Amino acid sequence: MKNLIDIKSLKTVEIEKIITIAQKFEHALESGVVESRVRGKNLAFLFNETSTRTRFSFEMACHNLGVRIFNFHAGSSSLEKGETLVDTVENLWAIGINGVILRHRDPDIIINTERDLKTKIPFINAGNGSMAHPTQALLDYYTMKKHLGTVEGKNIVIIGDILHSRVAKSNIELLSRFDANIICCAPEYFRDSKIKGVIWSDNLKECLKNADVTMCLRIQEERIEENIPFEKYIKSFQVNESNINKKSLLMHPGPTNRDIEVSSKLLDGEQGQTILEQAKNGVFVRMAVLDLLLGGTK
Ligand code: CP
Repeated sequence: MKNLIDIKSLKTVEIEKIITIAQKFEHALESGVVESRVRGKNLAFLFNETSTRTRFSFEMACHNLGVRIFNFHAGSSSLEKGETLVDTVENLWAIGINGVILRHRDPDIIINTERDLKTKIPFINAGNGSMAHPTQALLDYYTMKKHLGTVEGKNIVIIGDILHSRVAKSNIELLSRFDANIICCAPEYFRDSKIKGVIWSDNLKECLKNADVTMCLRIQEERIEENIPFEKYIKSFQVNESNINKKSLLMHPGPTNRDIEVSSKLLDGEQGQTILEQAKNGVFVRMAVLDLLLGGTK
C-alpha cells in the first residue's frame, strides 16, 4: 500500500489489514501503551477545504504515534506565485516530509498530483470534492463491524444527498466489496445514475423498516447551485423518532445539520451516540493508515 486515494484502488486484503491494525491500536490506547514504528516521521497537512473530524482525528492519530505535523496553508505558500502542487510536493519531500494528507474541493487535483509525482511520497486523500473520502468509509466499516460483526447480507440504508456525497460513494464501493445490501433512499435530484449495484427508493419508511444501518447524509449545499425544497425534503427524507427502526445503527459522517436530515431528538438520544463513536473510531483507523503508509511493508 503506497497511497490512499480511494477505496477502488485498495485491495480487499488491504482493507482487512487496516481494520486489524486499527483494532490493535484501539486496544493499545486502552492499555496506555502504543508501540509506533513511525515515530519521528514528518507529515504535511494540506487542507484546502474546511474540516473538523478528519483533520483532528488525523492530528490525534499523529500525536498517538509520535508523527510530526507540518501544516500547509495554501494562501501563504508559493502556490500563490504559480507553483504547481506537484512541484510543491516534490519540494516538501526534498525538505524531509515523509507523507502528505490532502483535502481539496477539486476532485481531480489529488488524482492528477499523485499521478504526476516523480517521488514516492505517500499520499492520503482526506476528501476530494464529491468523489471519495476513503478514511471515512474505512472508519464507518470499522464501526459497523464492531456492532454487527459483519456487513454481509446486512441492510445498509443510505439516505439523502448521495449525488454530492464523497462519503456515500466511498461507502458504497467498500460495502459492496463485503456483500452488504445497499439501499439508497433519495429524491431524484440527489441520485447518481453512475452508481450501480444498489437499490434506489424514495420511500423512507419502507427502507428503514428492515434497516440494520441507517446512514444519514448532510445536504452538501456548498456543492449545489440550485434551490433545495427544504420543507418538502424534510417531510419525505428526515430520519426521526417516528420512522427509525429502533434496532438499527444510526450513523452520520458529520457534520450534522440538526432537524434537516436527522432530528435533534434522535441525535441527542441513545441511537445518536454511534455518531460520536464513528468520530472516535476514526482515530484508530487513521493510526492504522499512517502505520501502513509511513512504516513500509514490514
Ligand atoms: N466526516 C468528515 O469528513 O467531517 P469533517 O468535514 O469535519 O472532516
